[in-house]
Amino acid sequence: MTTKEKIKQILINNQGHYISGEEIAQNIHTTRACVWKNIKSLESEGLLIDAVTNKGYRLQCPTDAPNASAIEKSLRDKGLDISVEYFDEVTSTNELLKEYAKTNHNEKIIIAGLQTAGKGRKGRNFYSPMGTGLYFSILLFPNDKLDKIVNITAMTAVATALALDEVVFNGEDTTLIKWVNDVYINDKKISGILTEGYSSFESSEDNYIVIGIGINLYPPTDDFPKDIKDKAGWAIDTPILDKDIATIKSELVIKITETVMRYYDFSKTGALNPDDCLTIYRNKSNLMGSYVKINHFDGNYTYARVIGISDDYHLIVEYDDKSTEELSSGEVSVVKY
Ligand code: BTN
Repeated sequence: MTTKEKIKQILINNQGHYISGEEIAQNIHTTRACVWKNIKSLESEGLLIDAVTNKGYRLQCPTDAPNASAIEKSLRDKGLDISVEYFDEVTSTNELLKEYAKTNHNEKIIIAGLQTAGKGRKGRNFYSPMGTGLYFSILLFPNDKLDKIVNITAMTAVATALALDEVVFNGEDTTLIKWVNDVYINDKKISGILTEGYSSFESSEDNYIVIGIGINLYPPTDDFPKDIKDKAGWAIDTPILDKDIATIKSELVIKITETVMRYYDFSKTGALNPDDCLTIYRNKSNLMGSYVKINHFDGNYTYARVIGISDDYHLIVEYDDKSTEELSSGEVSVVKY
């Protein structure tokens, strides 16, 4: 890579942020004057760069859009026939696919640059700003297989955690999963999954599910909203120099989709077995042994210790009186002493 290419790469990897000339210079072992000269040269080639005194340089137009047709082709090469579309801005990728499923019957992925009405679990919002996150949904038509895929959300958590380990952390086992389906790093949630489904009384052919995945890749430019600031984190602290954001997003979409689709259709493709998935899920669980507060749907709560994950991905807890229970859904939070 030439010095100019390296500088362009650093700007791409820092989209949404200013990076000082000093920092760039240190990064590639050159001088600030050399950085400035190359920035001017990049500008003359048409790259739009903001230069602000005491802040540094920042790309004006984020180029973080993953290449939808390249993703589609890569999935097709792996034997997976699913169309892929990218939009700079949507309300919610889940909502778009649910609308699409009313009149279409083919499997599809929608990826968005930002969501104006990103949906989280339990009617919450999912903060989806531009540039720093990956937001996408997968539409599948399981026909009569709905019962076979009840654990698809937990499986998607495994797929997301594995993909992040591979694409972002060079294959190191870094991510954890908080029951039911949140992906964590260092005690902070970096990814959430929302699965929505439709089951028809008339024909199982009309059954569909939409699996929505949101990942905070970088710290948001304007910080997280107050209500999630203490809990939310991001996957990438320092730029991965050999990959731009678009590439990271594309690789994640491909890896996650591949794993989810293989699980969903594993009997045909003979690929990732649900048993392997359960083992990974158990190994990555960050609640084992923790004393937790269980928030029940009726607003009540109880306390118990987590003692395992059942074969159905239920959380097994033990109450103070030694009685046990398997929780199939709900929300728990770790009690800190
Ligand atoms: C949660 O943690 O509560 C679930 C968050 C799910 C967010 C994703 S982002 C892509 C898809 N579209 C949405 O509106 N929500 C999901």
